[in-house]
Parts: sequence; C-alpha cells; structure tokens
Amino acid sequence: KAITLVAGARPNFMKVAPIIQAISEVQNQGVEISYRLVHTGQHYDKEMSGSFFEQLEIPEPHVNLGAGGGTQAEQTANIMVRFEQELIANPCDLVLVVGDVNSTMACSITAKKMNIKVAHVEAGIRSGDLSMPEEINRMITDAIADLFFTTSELANTNLRQAGISDDRIHFVGNTMIDTLLKQRPNFKAPPIWLKLKLSRQKYIVLTLHRPANVDEASRLRAMLDEIIDNTEGMPLVFPMHPRTAKILEDLNFRHDCLHMIEPLSYLEFNFLVENAKAVITDSGGITEEASIMGVPCLTLRDSTERPETISLGTNELVGTNPENIKPYLQRLFAGNWKVGSKIPMWDGKTARRIVEVLRVN
Ligand code: UD1
Repeated sequence: KAITLVAGARPNFMKVAPIIQAISEVQNQGVEISYRLVHTGQHYDKEMSGSFFEQLEIPEPHVNLGAGGGTQAEQTANIMVRFEQELIANPCDLVLVVGDVNSTMACSITAKKMNIKVAHVEAGIRSGDLSMPEEINRMITDAIADLFFTTSELANTNLRQAGISDDRIHFVGNTMIDTLLKQRPNFKAPPIWLKLKLSRQKYIVLTLHRPANVDEASRLRAMLDEIIDNTEGMPLVFPMHPRTAKILEDLNFRHDCLHMIEPLSYLEFNFLVENAKAVITDSGGITEEASIMGVPCLTLRDSTERPETISLGTNELVGTNPENIKPYLQRLFAGNWKVGSKIPMWDGKTARRIVEVLRVN
C-alpha cells in the first residue's frame, strides 16, 4: 500500500513525525506499506520548518512543493496545482493529511478529485468560528475525507452528527502528544534561558499569531499592555511568529519585561513551556501540550476546538477582550489554578493505532 503523507506548516510536523516512525516499525516487520512525504512549503523559514525536521528526526521530504506565502486563496491554489502534479507523477492509494492548515484542505480536495482516498488525522474538532481559516479547513476536509482519526469523544460526536458512519471514525488519540512524550527527555534550554538567567516558574511564555489578535495593532498593543501590567514584572518570553514580528516592528513596541525573540525550535520551545509559571497563547496545539505537562495555560481566543484542554487540562479560555485578562492573571498569581487530569487516549501510542487502521483500510 502506497501512502502520501502531507505536511506544510509548523503545527503539522510534530503530528506527522510519529506516523512516519510507526510506518517504519511495521515496514521492519515485513508489512508492505510505503510512504512518500510531501512538504507543501507553506512554511519555509528555517525556524518555522527546517529545525523541526532535524529535531523530530523526520526524514527529508521526498519533495517540497514550494507553495508558501501569498493570500489565503493564492496559497491554497498554489498548493492544489502543485499537489495535483505531484500525485500524477507519483500515484498512491491514500493521502493522509493532518491538522487544519491550508495545506490540509488543499491537498484533501486535490486528492479526492483524483479519486484517491483521504485520511484526516485530528478530524472532527470544531470551534464554530468561521472567521478562522482553520475552521473552514476542518469543515471542508471532514466533508470529503474517507477515514477519520480523532483526538476526543466530542470530535466523534461532531462527525456522527455530520452523518459520518461509525466504521469510518477511529478514536485514536493525539499524535502531537506522541511527539511530546517521546521528545520530553530531549528538551533543551534555549539561549534566552541563560541570557536572562531564567529559573523554574519565574517567567511566562507568550505566543500570539492569529490574525484576529495581531492584525489590528491597537488591540495587540492593548493585550500586551494588559499582560505586562498584571504579571508582577516577571520576564515574558515571546517567541514571535513572522506575522506578529512584522506588526510589532511597525508599532515599535518595547517594554523591559517583554523579551521578543525569534521563533524557537521544538525542543527549546517546549523546554521553556515545561518550566514556565504559565503560558499565554492563541495557539491550539500549545494548549494541548501545556495540559499534558501540567503548566497553566491562558488562551486568548473566544472559542476553542479543544474543549478537553479546559475540562480536563490546565487551559482557560480568556477571550480576546484585553479587559478579560487581569482576573485570570490575578488567579494565577494567587496560586489558584487547576492541576489538570489525564486526557483519554493521549498516551503516546496514537500513531501506532493509526497505522494499524491504515494497514486494513
Ligand atoms: C498557519 C496556520 C495556523 C497555524 C500556524 C502556525 C493556516 C490557515 N494557518 O498560520 O493554523 O497555527 O500556521 O504557525 O494554515 N511566513 C514567513 N515564514 C514562514 C511561514 C510564513 O515569513 O516560514 C509568513 C507568510 O509569508 C505570511 C505569514 O507568515 O505572510 C503567515 O503565514 P501562513 O502560512 O499564511 O499562515 P500562518 O499565519 O503561519
């Protein structure tokens, strides 16, 4: 069986790495299954892409489609045109996509129109917020996929409600957590740790990249002011997505507590999160990782597609109104934060379950 695996943007790489490893394991047992790894090139900077391949021991992609940059439509269209050529040149039995980025949707549509089966890893999650490109990507991908690998019972329910039959839904857990648990012993301090003489629980990690938070300069400034005013002078380490960096540069925003740095590699970023007092973020994946590591997490969004990080994990949905932030930070500094409990199936064995299903489907 020939499988084409798609990865395009930073949050895809940690999801695809354990699947490749699980395929290699069964290949070593003599199972006839092969894969071709396609990087769409959606993310192209070394900090956004290259270092993840090295650290997560992902083999060199068989091809890089170089389809990064541009508007939503341009990027999606470029990926589709180039992925179609890729599939014509290298036919396969199944295309496996992960997550919710533009590459996920673009490659699903392309494959389905060529009558190739599509498997979606992280299927069924929904924020209900169609102003996020990711939500549209999830809905479209799940409308046409054949096999659905899910991270939560709620995702199963969402898919069933959309009319997907049970035999196509496989509740396997979270491949991002496979990677986290495997790599945890390898986490390493980034240069900023030494430079600022950071120590455990004496700093906060901040990440912001969603258009809704960063594209409007006045809102971004208000959010940062509110965070700085309510963190008791603690260092705030802020590895910036290229989009955010550009906007803050134009704003010329600076503050002594706020340490704006380049995006970090996977092992360095998670070292910082693991040891932080808390993480403040608008990412989805980071809420999952923080929950598993037991680190308090404040999500600056109005909705989440990962409610289990709130009900079982360490995450709280703060919202995007800067005025909401203060009470949560007061609670954090009062030492009044939930500790979190186990999340079903997030056990490090998800990719193996996926490959077992792929063998027979
Ligand atoms: C994408 C995903 C988002 C994910 C995020 C993680 C979609 C719709 N969104 O958003 O779900 O949380 O990745 O990072 O797919 N850029 C660079 N260097 C790069 C990559 C991008 O400078 O290596 C620039 C692009 O040119 C563009 C901007 O950053 O101007 C945004 O990149 P894009 O890939 O469109 O989406 P993200 O905001 O990164």
